[in-house]
Amino acid sequence: MERNLALEFVRVTEAAALACAKWVGKGDRHAADQAACDAMRKTLNTMEIAGVIVIGEGERDEAPMLYIGEELGAGGQHVEIAVDPLEGTNLCANGLPNAISVIAAAGGGGKLMHAPDCYMDKLVVGEAAKGAIDITLPPEVNLRAIAKCIGKSVDELMVGILDRPRHEKLINEVRSAGARIHLVSDGDITLGLAAIEEETGIDALMGIGGAPEGVITAAAIRCYGGDMQARLVFRNEEERHRASKMGNGELDRILTVDDMAVGNVMFAATGITSGDFLKGVRYTSDGAVTESIVMRAVSGTVRRVQTRHRFEGSPNY
Ligand code: FBP
Repeated sequence: MERNLALEFVRVTEAAALACAKWVGKGDRHAADQAACDAMRKTLNTMEIAGVIVIGEGERDEAPMLYIGEELGAGGQHVEIAVDPLEGTNLCANGLPNAISVIAAAGGGGKLMHAPDCYMDKLVVGEAAKGAIDITLPPEVNLRAIAKCIGKSVDELMVGILDRPRHEKLINEVRSAGARIHLVSDGDITLGLAAIEEETGIDALMGIGGAPEGVITAAAIRCYGGDMQARLVFRNEEERHRASKMGNGELDRILTVDDMAVGNVMFAATGITSGDFLKGVRYTSDGAVTESIVMRAVSGTVRRVQTRHRFEGSPNY
C-alpha cells in the first residue's frame, strides 16, 4: 500500500469519531452508529482508491451502508477494507470510556481474513511475549509464560476481559492463577490494543468477542507487533454454515496473525470517548481535538496523531 494512504485513512476515522461524538451519552446507540457510518462512507468515497468492504456493518440486506462487498472510493489502487465505524455502540450511547472508530485496510498484495459474523476466542499479548502463548492451554499456563517473558510475576499481570456471563469460568481461572483482571462492558478491540502497548498496564486480552473485531485487532498487531491466537466460536449450525460459505478453510483451526492479516496492511483508530488507549473527542471554542493512532505493517511506523479541527461555524461532519 502506498505510504500516503495510511495518513488518508486516519482522516476517515477522525471524521467518524467527530460525527458520532455528538451522540455521546445521548442513549441512542443506533443514531451514533449511523452518524459514524455516514461520515466514514463519505470520507472513504473521496479517497483515490478502489476499495471494497470485507468486514463491515453486515451483509447487504441487513446493512444500508458499509456492507460486505460494498465498493467505495474515487478509483485507484485496489484496497480491502475492514471497518468498525463505532466500536462500542453502548459505550458511546452511555458516555463510557473506550468507544473508538477504527479501520484496517490491505492493498498491494496484503490480505485480511473475511471474518464471518460469529464470535471468536482471543488471546492477545505484546511483543515481549510473542511466541509464548498457546490458546489451547489453560489460562494459568499462558499467564505463567507471559509473566516469564515480560519479567513480571503472575500476580502483577493485568488481563483484559469482556464482562460477560460466558466468561465466568475464564475469570475464575485467571483469578485462581493469581493475576489481576480489567473487566470492561464492551470494546475488545481497545482491550487488544491496550494489551500490545506496554504503557497501558494491560498485559493480555483473553476471552470471546466478535470475530470481525478479532481480525481488525490482528491487523493492528501486524503493524504494531505483539501476538495473537484465536479460534472461531459458533453458537449454532447456521453460523457455522455461513462461515464455511465465506471460504474460511478449516473452521476449528487455531488462527494466528498470519491467518488474519497478511502483508501490506494498515490500521487507523480515533478515540470517541477517552479510554485505555486513546483520548476521546474534546470540543474546543472553535472546533474539536481528536487523538488517533495510524500504523503501517510494511514500514512498522506507528504514529499518534493529535488533530485540531476547526468547524468555522458548523462542523462539516
Ligand atoms: P458493538 O460496537 O457492535 O456494540 O460491539 C461492542 C463489543 O463489545 C465488541 O468490542 C465485542 O467484540 C463484541 O461487542 C462482543 O459481543 P457481545 O456484546 O455479543 O458479547
